[in-house]
Amino acid sequence: MANAFFKWIDCTDKRRPRDMIRRPDTVLRIAQLTDLHLPGEVELAKRLRQLVSNKASFDNVSHEISAISNEFGHHYRSERKLYTNLIKKTLVGLHRLGVDHLVITGDLVHCGLAAEFLDIRAALEITGWWGEEKLTVIPGNHDRFNLYERLPSEPMETFFPVVTPREPRFKILPNGVALLEIDSNRDPIDDRHYLERWLPNTVGRIYPEALDWVDRNRGQIAGHRLITLVHHHVTSDWYPTRASTIWGLMEPADGVDHLVEAIELVDPYSIILHGHKHDVMAVDYTLGTHQVGCPGGFASSLRFNILDFNVHGEQVMTQLELRP
Ligand SMILES: [Fe+2]
Repeated sequence: MANAFFKWIDCTDKRRPRDMIRRPDTVLRIAQLTDLHLPGEVELAKRLRQLVSNKASFDNVSHEISAISNEFGHHYRSERKLYTNLIKKTLVGLHRLGVDHLVITGDLVHCGLAAEFLDIRAALEITGWWGEEKLTVIPGNHDRFNLYERLPSEPMETFFPVVTPREPRFKILPNGVALLEIDSNRDPIDDRHYLERWLPNTVGRIYPEALDWVDRNRGQIAGHRLITLVHHHVTSDWYPTRASTIWGLMEPADGVDHLVEAIELVDPYSIILHGHKHDVMAVDYTLGTHQVGCPGGFASSLRFNILDFNVHGEQVMTQLELRP
């Protein structure tokens, strides 16, 4: 029974019983996980020594502070094995729920290091979620920006088949549903945000080139129900105000309004799934005609969403939580 793995939280269809069983009229069941933030094994003491050394320039110091505070902020920093096992348990449980396709809306890893990417990829492979027909992953800011720039790393592309900021992609799933994969990270070389030396790519950006691509290629998925996948959040009225909000560090991605206009030409009711904010969004939340989903940072909340499409093209979202 899946109930041994997961707790039912809420569902958009209030007439349904409070369970997670896949209904007979479901033609496609999608799971959304986000912000796993799998932690790496970076030696903190070494970086603290670098921080206080005389050679450290201002830029180095600010970068180190940002990296270290990120690390201390990680809930499972000291319990990496336990956390990886919780992820594996969830991935196994998704099979029991009858999930057809898994989407992860960014920040799979915490520091952007190769060892972390290899760990999460291994967890996906070992639990049977590897492969384009079963899995779609988009990059988050933690995946794109190595928090420890002074340690060697490889781009996310080395480990996952992901899109880039200026070229998105459509993926056609069975039974009339398609995904739009967007990379909402700012180009780290050509277009670095002034706040990035403190917090890498916290404010996302949707590039006009990406929207032109959607416009040119929307014929590929004509008539499909569209699910738009984007890491950064698209609205700001659903989470509490915090210090980071005041400084503009956690504002919705730049260019979001244009993204919404572009997807409405494809599907006026496109669902939008995102992450980045670790607050849990209520399953009933909508932006205009768009149902929006953000189950919060998995590392903090252990929550995820299930999206069911039925024979009539209607969708129902259910939020579940892992029983650790
Ligand atoms: Fe993020």
